[in-house]
Amino acid sequence: MTLSLGSILDALLLWPLPPQGAEQSEAVDPLYLFIYWLTFIVFWGVIFVMAYFCWRYRRRPGVGPEKSPNHHTALEVTWSVIPLLFVIVIFWWGYRGFLDLAVAPPNAYKIEVTAWQWGWKFRYPNGAETLFNQDGLHVPPGEPVQLVMTSNDVLHSFYVRDFRVKQDVVPGRYTTLWFNAIPGLYKGFCTEYCGTAHSNMNFEVTVHESRAAFDEWLAGRPTGEMDGETVYKSFCQACHTTTADRGVGPGFGGLFGKQETVTRGPTGPEETVTVDEAYLKESILVPEARVVKGFPNAMIGQDFGSRLKPVEIDNVIEFIKKQK
Ligand code: CUA
Repeated sequence: MTLSLGSILDALLLWPLPPQGAEQSEAVDPLYLFIYWLTFIVFWGVIFVMAYFCWRYRRRPGVGPEKSPNHHTALEVTWSVIPLLFVIVIFWWGYRGFLDLAVAPPNAYKIEVTAWQWGWKFRYPNGAETLFNQDGLHVPPGEPVQLVMTSNDVLHSFYVRDFRVKQDVVPGRYTTLWFNAIPGLYKGFCTEYCGTAHSNMNFEVTVHESRAAFDEWLAGRPTGEMDGETVYKSFCQACHTTTADRGVGPGFGGLFGKQETVTRGPTGPEETVTVDEAYLKESILVPEARVVKGFPNAMIGQDFGSRLKPVEIDNVIEFIKKQK
């Protein structure tokens, strides 16, 4: 930075403020600085006048005290009206800014935020999730992003200093906040004292270079719920093919709707079943219940009921149905 008069003036005017990381900063900062410098001038003005009067009216030999006036209408009107005008301007300015900050544009990109003692979780529209201490919050640049926030326990508060946005996060209700960020890396905080590890509730906010870069990052994140193909690849593929060929277990190709001969338990009688959703679900959750004749009961003890969410079991059943 070269030292020109302009840059010195800029630095002096902005020195109380952190860098601007969002469009909102440009709305908040002028009002903040206006109040800041107004207060600065009034404070030093009062101090100066007080010091001057102390000196001007000091006790001197041979000079008696003047009689104090007890009423001066013009003076009293002046010191009431001028501050009132300033208060009206500050209120109008602040209220307008508050409305802009409170109401997100309807097309805003929505991210769900959950706070707890002591952490944050961020959930994106595709179901992907990130945590405060792993990856933090990621957002696209140059477009409105709205956070829909709630708490699992006590009061927390979401604060990104460089965006100039802050909002309480309240158990049992949703609060929102929005911003339009500039690419960069920022720091977020919990700014409501919420217990022992309150100070650990920090997170990084990554504002990507472009929407495309953000989308690419998001596509690479595992989603909160696995789709059927992912469940298949993670849990089934080792033993089941997607064709009619047998692996360790029956192939999934053409399986749905087929008649199978099964045994009930290891030594039970044989019976014929039609492979439908109920049979597939039973075979996932209680694999030893009815095993297709001629196959080992290799899935026993896998406990997919606790390893997969119910919706993921439904997803993989839908996946199996589609294999021809
Ligand atoms: Cu959460 Cu402080």
